[in-house]
Amino acid sequence: MLTISDQFPLFKEYSADKVLTYLDSAATAQKPLSVIQAEEQYYRQSNANPNRGIYELDLRATEIHETARQKVANFIGAEFPEEIIFTQNTTEAFNLLAYSYGMPFLKEGNTILITVMEHHSNLIPWQRVAKATGAKLVYLYPDENGHFSDEELQSKICDGVKLVSVHHVSNVMGTLSPIAKITELAHQIGAVVALDSAQSIPHMPINVKELDVDFIAFSGHKMYGPMGIGVLYGKKELLEKMPPFMSGGDMIDFVSEQESTYAPLPRKFESGTRNVGAAAGLSAAIDYMQDLGYDKITAHEEELMVYAMNRLTKLPFITIYGTKNPKERFGVISFNVNEVHPHDTATILGNDEVAIRAGHHCAQPLMRFLHLTACCRLSFGVYNTTKDIDTLVESLKTVRRIMGFES
Ligand code: ALA
Repeated sequence: MLTISDQFPLFKEYSADKVLTYLDSAATAQKPLSVIQAEEQYYRQSNANPNRGIYELDLRATEIHETARQKVANFIGAEFPEEIIFTQNTTEAFNLLAYSYGMPFLKEGNTILITVMEHHSNLIPWQRVAKATGAKLVYLYPDENGHFSDEELQSKICDGVKLVSVHHVSNVMGTLSPIAKITELAHQIGAVVALDSAQSIPHMPINVKELDVDFIAFSGHKMYGPMGIGVLYGKKELLEKMPPFMSGGDMIDFVSEQESTYAPLPRKFESGTRNVGAAAGLSAAIDYMQDLGYDKITAHEEELMVYAMNRLTKLPFITIYGTKNPKERFGVISFNVNEVHPHDTATILGNDEVAIRAGHHCAQPLMRFLHLTACCRLSFGVYNTTKDIDTLVESLKTVRRIMGFES
């Protein structure tokens, strides 16, 4: 088991006299010292507005930004660095896709297919595209464990479907979508496939060639990088035919009073001043994850998941949502303390310095599908240990006592 929380300054600096049990990494991960230092170092030594000047400092900033792009491309196995578009986060990546692919290329009679398990960032943009274009928005439904049957996939991935956009790992159920099967069926009928990897890239290696998806979106801040930077990967031939999303500074080739031509990839999609400090931090986060190695990360998190599931399923007052098979869950466990509102549970845990998320998890259609209004969710990062789970379990017993139950 990894014991590396001392590489993350927040755990020491949060408080002089309180010990934090952080179980909310699916919302955002804590940052290792190397990531914090990389961002600070950029502002101390290399800050300039990239892609504009020709002086040494500006070249440094541009180089840091482009090195980060190349590093992301290598990290996910993309062929060309210009297939990596920097966004603010996953939400912006999906909005880019919706506005630059959905709006211009979809029309009445087309179907956009998503699942009822999507985070709102991979749902609301498609509702807007459907309303604007007349395309239909259709949902795939899982079983109660978060698994999709072959029959569901085969019956819904059919003629008329032009775009399939699905989670890789669900931010509520923690299950993997059957992306290989989805991609195979979708490509047979000429549909493009977009993958929300926000909740998978912190936990497992991503290779765009092996996955053979057309687009992938993820956020830096969930993979130990800074907030304010995310990625849209797209196959070059698709990105090339897409019009820009945001327009203004830096994304043009030539501007006249009435018309403009646009810069080549990736700058066509990167308007305005870029977040180079966050790109420097993202580079450091990738280095951090590569130094640790996905083999260690996955082994550690699997061990934690087995331990947590084992302890939680022994508590008679806990209901877990989704599969109880720890091998089928990645990073998150959603649950409720029976007869206690999730916000009460999270507040009482918070008083014990145990940080979890409670609410609808930006997945309201999934909540309705599960007949819930809200639930609690614990989620892991590389710094968690079984001791964190033990602390959580003791605090859950306190929740029951405070709420007037025997156990
Ligand atoms: N998308 C993040 C989550 O699931 C914020 O918590």
